[in-house]
Order: sequence, then C-alpha cells, then structure tokens
Amino acid sequence: MSQTVLKLNDIVKKYQDGESERVILNHINLEVHEGEFVAIVGPSGCGKSTLLNIAGMMLSSDHGDITLCGEKVSALPKKKWTDIRKENIGFIFQNHQLLPYLKAGEQLTALLGTNPQEVKKLFKELSIDNIIGQYPSHLSGGERQRVAIARAFASNAKLILADEPTASLDSKRGRHAVEMIQMEVHKRNKAAIMVTHDERVLDLADKIYRMEDGQLTQIK
Ligand SMILES: Nc1ncnc2c1ncn2[C@@H]1O[C@H](COP(=O)(O)OP(=O)(O)OP(=O)(O)O)[C@@H](O)[C@H]1O
Ligand SMILES: [Mg+2]
Repeated sequence: MSQTVLKLNDIVKKYQDGESERVILNHINLEVHEGEFVAIVGPSGCGKSTLLNIAGMMLSSDHGDITLCGEKVSALPKKKWTDIRKENIGFIFQNHQLLPYLKAGEQLTALLGTNPQEVKKLFKELSIDNIIGQYPSHLSGGERQRVAIARAFASNAKLILADEPTASLDSKRGRHAVEMIQMEVHKRNKAAIMVTHDERVLDLADKIYRMEDGQLTQIK
C-alpha cells in the first residue's frame, strides 16, 4: 500500500468581493499518494492556483486541514510553514519565481546545495545546459520555467506542485517537461499535482480532476 503524501481535508477558501463573499474552494478533499501524478484542469479563475497555494502552504485556508507525509501541518504555527515548505515541497510557480541575483545554476547550488555535476545533468535533460551561468533577467520565459522545474527536482521534496508548467513552452518542450515530472514521480516515488490548461499533456497524468464551482470531480 503506497503512502499518502498529501491529504487535503474539507478545504474552504473565501475571498471578499466588495460587500459579498465569494467561495472559491467549497469543501475540497484530495489525496495524493507516493508515485502518483495528479492533474487538475478547469476554467480560468476557478481557483486552481488558490488550491495549489494552499496545498503548498503559501496561503492559509478558512477551514479544513492539510496532512503532509502523515503530519497535520496546517495545525503547526505559521512560522514553521517556511521550513516545512523547504523540506517537503518543490513548487513550480505559474510565474516561475527565481531569485534575480542568482545565476540559473546557482538557483540550485546556492539554495539547495545541489552539486554542480547534478545541476549540469538536470539542465542537460531539460535542454538548458547552455544557460547555467545566466541571470534570470537574461533568460526567456520558457528557459526560466525549466530552471524552476530543475529546481523543484533538485530539492528532495516528496511533493511537487506545478502551476501550469508548460505555459511558456512550445508544445514539444512542454510535453518533454511534463514527461520529466512524470518520470520523477514514478522513478523516485514522489507525488505531484499539476495544474494545466494544456490538454495535450493530460495523458501523462495518472489521475485527472476537473475543478468547477469550487469543487473537484475526478474525470480519470
Ligand atoms: N487575494 C485575492 N483576493 C481576492 N480574490 C482573489 C485573490 N486571489 C485570487 N482571487 C480570485 O479567486 C479566483 C481564483 O483565482 P485562481 O488564481 O486560483 O484561479 P485559477 O483557476 O488559477 O485561474 P487561472 O487558470 O487563470 O490561473 C479568481 O476569481 C481570483 O480573482
Ligand atoms: Mg492559476
């Protein structure tokens, strides 16, 4: 029986919209196991990034709890969240957050202590080995995205969260990047959630959920 890496239990998130309140996440439950690659699809604005940010402990929910590798992390004080995130979660953001003052390779070596050989190998697999010494401001959107992917892999995080990882990539590179996420999950027994609008990579996911009206429905 494979271990549950992430469990979201009865998650609710509301935003104030002028006078009224908008329920973005309406009692969401989700479990992701070791070796499982989950995709979430749904219309723009339905709350996919919000859900991923809550799962990644970047944002708190109004109700419900989060269990990560058997520990109920949502119950821990906020000041511990950063450490939990660093240790357990590799996040590939929709707007790929790289540190502007670190070169591409240093985003892994300096931040995570990855050895340069490993960085080279990862960058080569993602076809960005030519930009290891470049600062993010000198990279294209697609190159930045792949550095963010490499960084998520290099951390030994058990959970990978990817918010539209193919958004700035052409279809061939986009598919390759998602294939790499799939391989990382299956080979190293990690768990991943990918939010995507890209129908062409959905076949790579083990399970697919559609998000609508604040709820998830499994469609594969
Ligand atoms: N800080 C905030 N305050 C108020 N409303 C917010 C806030 N953040 C997000 N929202 C609203 O919550 C809804 C869900 O946003 P979210 O970013 O999760 O959507 P999404 O499904 O990721 O969309 P997309 O596919 O366009 O990335 C949107 O309508 C957005 O306007
Ligand atoms: Mg989004």
